[in-house]
Amino acid sequence: MIKPHGGKLINCKVATDKRLALLEESKSLPKKTLNSRELSDIEMIGVGAFSPLDGFMKKSDYLSVIRNMRLANGTVWSLPITLSISSQQAKDISDKLALSDQNDKVVAVMEVTGIYEYDKVEEARLVYGTNDEKHPGVAYLYSQEDLLVSGKITLIDNFNEQQFSNYRFTPEQTRKLFADKGWRQVVGFQTRNPVHRAHEYIQKCALEVVDGLLLHPLVGETKSDDIPAEVRMKCYQVLLEKYYPRDRVVLSVLPASMRYAGPREAIFHALVRKNYGCTHFIVGRDHAGVGSYYGSFEAQKIFEQFTPSDLDITPLFFDYTFYCHKCEGMASTKTCPHSEESRLSLSGTKVRQMLREGKLPPAEFSRPEVAEILLQAMKKSAELV
Ligand code: ADX
Repeated sequence: MIKPHGGKLINCKVATDKRLALLEESKSLPKKTLNSRELSDIEMIGVGAFSPLDGFMKKSDYLSVIRNMRLANGTVWSLPITLSISSQQAKDISDKLALSDQNDKVVAVMEVTGIYEYDKVEEARLVYGTNDEKHPGVAYLYSQEDLLVSGKITLIDNFNEQQFSNYRFTPEQTRKLFADKGWRQVVGFQTRNPVHRAHEYIQKCALEVVDGLLLHPLVGETKSDDIPAEVRMKCYQVLLEKYYPRDRVVLSVLPASMRYAGPREAIFHALVRKNYGCTHFIVGRDHAGVGSYYGSFEAQKIFEQFTPSDLDITPLFFDYTFYCHKCEGMASTKTCPHSEESRLSLSGTKVRQMLREGKLPPAEFSRPEVAEILLQAMKKSAELV
């Protein structure tokens, strides 16, 4: 089994016999209410998906990550994982901070090691490659409070347990599942969009050469025009039932939020999947991109900056993939000799527009069962508006 990033799987969940005492103690601590991104982050930290992180980053790690894509000790890490607070809140904080969800329930306690200033413009430029506030990751960064607070967290409750409860496996659980199945090579697939034929094609190409596939759709916060996770999960369920070998695929959710940081997020997505036990990770066209901020293959190119032992997990790169009428099947720019006219290419925007008009995307783009789920979901959301 591949080792977790940094060598050890972190577990920040409170020990059962200490839970009540910590809850009691948290009542007297200053409290911060977390937004949905921050809640995702503490779940990811808590279950070890962000190993070797065991809390929000201290200043030396933060600066090293945004400037060199490494933690202060040299371990590769490409995105800052931070918690912001206002200067007003900072005045109340001493050594511990209670973290609560939006219903005011304390979900974790942080042992505060530092509070520091940071430069949002520098972070935006280095991490997202742009200062444009229209970029959703940059917009979020600019909306953060002006200070960052660092420290180890102890997770009191698995607050999201009910959502996708049958598919919410922790890194410890997926590792066990893979071991039980006897899989030695497992490819991880990140996605935030409804599954289409190009996704299916690259997953199955990868499955031809490894033992198993971890289908790992991200279900934390995405931008408002992305399709909701509930709908995407329904698409996966029907697809698995009809088109995948059941014994070679594990479907599980990734509770992280999207940052839309393109190349840097591709590295981050790979390292996180390593923590879940994957030995390989798929990176296709414009991975974790948004708009036209990143070149189509920048998220592949960035891997050249690291040695195989820096990452340990092996990226599997895929070119632009589509259905070709002349090839009469799925293909990519690497395997299809035909011209654009023979290829079926639909953008996410175009597909959403078709669905809004009540039209099903063609079977060469989306499996009919998946298209039907998307159409029904679109009708339902139109009724609700
Ligand atoms: S992402 O933000 O999670 O990357 P999406 O769910 O669309 O978005 O993509 C999931 C994975 O499939 C990414 O690795 C992406 O690069 C890849 N991918 C999506 N569409 C294509 C395509 N047509 N050709 C090649 N790779 C693709």
